Amino acid sequence: MSDKISRRDFIKRSAVGVIAGGAILSSLDLTALANSPAARGVIRNAGDDTVVKLADNSALTKVGGSVKISDEMMLIRKSESTFIAVRTICTHKGCDVELEGDKFVCPCHGSEFTVDGVVTQGPATKNLKIFETIFDSGNGTVTIKTSTNEKSE
Ligand code: FES
Repeated sequence: MSDKISRRDFIKRSAVGVIAGGAILSSLDLTALANSPAARGVIRNAGDDTVVKLADNSALTKVGGSVKISDEMMLIRKSESTFIAVRTICTHKGCDVELEGDKFVCPCHGSEFTVDGVVTQGPATKNLKIFETIFDSGNGTVTIKTSTNEKSE
């Protein structure tokens, strides 16, 4: 019996390998890795709220620092004792806005917002959503009221 395989068998086996490899890759949830709370600085969810520990997020130890909490939220330190949590989804057609200096800019159609979410340039006409934050200086944490108490829209 020969150890050689025919060209046809080789192609069949290769095709099976490619299909199996593709199925394995597609079953991996790569977005879950990229969006893991540790990568975004969230230490835990307390009920429906999000709690962020400042010591674990060096960007938030200084005024003006910011941390992307999730695909849709950014936490910004506005002063020694005040923080703002902004939903980073443009109110025009839903693109992700980007923090550029002291404003949010939408790359899709050019809308601009202050860091407080107030629209300053259209075509968007509605402000970004802002969530209430509670700073606990004793524990060094910021609680973001993500499910209730939306401050504005
Ligand atoms: Fe942001 Fe259009 S989606 S300006």
